[in-house]
Amino acid sequence: MSETQIEIDNVNAYYIGNHALKNISVRIPKKQITAIIGPSGCGKSTLLKCMNRLIDLTDGITYSGKILIDNEDVFDRKTDIVNIRKKMGLLAQKPIPLPMSIYDNIAYGPKIHGLSKKPDLDAIVEKYLKLVGLWEEVKDRLNSPASQLSIGQQQRLCLARGLAVEPEIILCDEPTSALDPVSSQHIEQQLLKLKKDYTIVIVTHNIHQAMRLADYVVHLYLGELVEHGPANEVFENPKEERTRAYINGTFFADFKVDSELNLKGNACPFNFVYAKQALHTMEEGKILKVIVDDPLAVTEVPRGMEADGHKILNVKQINKTDWQIVIQK
Ligand SMILES: Nc1ncnc2c1ncn2[C@@H]1O[C@H](COP(=O)(O)OP(=O)(O)OP(=O)(O)O)[C@@H](O)[C@H]1O
Ligand SMILES: [Mg+2]
Repeated sequence: MSETQIEIDNVNAYYIGNHALKNISVRIPKKQITAIIGPSGCGKSTLLKCMNRLIDLTDGITYSGKILIDNEDVFDRKTDIVNIRKKMGLLAQKPIPLPMSIYDNIAYGPKIHGLSKKPDLDAIVEKYLKLVGLWEEVKDRLNSPASQLSIGQQQRLCLARGLAVEPEIILCDEPTSALDPVSSQHIEQQLLKLKKDYTIVIVTHNIHQAMRLADYVVHLYLGELVEHGPANEVFENPKEERTRAYINGTFFADFKVDSELNLKGNACPFNFVYAKQALHTMEEGKILKVIVDDPLAVTEVPRGMEADGHKILNVKQINKTDWQIVIQK
């Protein structure tokens, strides 16, 4: 495993009457994408908020254990938490732009960190708005209030704002859950590029998003760490039955397949195109199962289907070479 960026050691967290994190110990690798997965309420956001101690803002919270970032203990009262937070950008579930213009949302952080020349700030604003795919949409109204943007645009603005202060770590909590499929795809592609320079921790309950993005996986269930490890090991050969059930979508075990299509021998993007054609002839809500044997199809077909607005119910390896992808129109 690569170098560790964040070391989490025996962390417990309690809300009033609720033991939300139970003895969590895990190491987050540097300059990789770690996905924290698990069903709603399992403690994903709580764990993320412990990492930058944003959890302190919650009334009645108590926590214990140790979180080391570059050998500094985040939980230690002597640690300069402002300094720790500077290293981390946070992208929340719902975008919260600052009550100022689009331009100032991006320029705000760099200004605080001492940048004052207009051309430098202009360049930063353009760079980060481009990076998140927002530039073309807002370049003619940079001085309009950020609150006028759509929710999807606001989320991309918040990502750009976080990146503009050049953190080492990006913490994201369901960063695409409020976005349309095309914007989500854009953010995913940017995160994949950004991991070259940043350590990224992404909370998601979209297993397919985790499969597309993660190098390392942390699976939580009811506040417990069920399993963690390199993504290919966890996704292809989980050690724990609960992880296998979560990944294989046992939660969706009740679906009745309406149509089946064997796409073995077809490479991407043809398998996607054929699946799309098959869905085209089906009614809304009907379920199509496709069998593929191109490894690329395992990520690309679900991604394309989600972008087209369909729902992925199941992605599962069925033998050495073949995978099934179950799609609901
Ligand atoms: N402020 C709070 N006060 C009391 N209990 C809380 C508070 N915030 C979260 N909890 C509880 O702690 C547990 C973990 O919550 P958390 O928000 O970390 O879950 P999550 O995995 O992020 O869920 P989701 O996918 O729905 O965002 C849940 O049972 C939740 O109800
Ligand atoms: Mg959450």
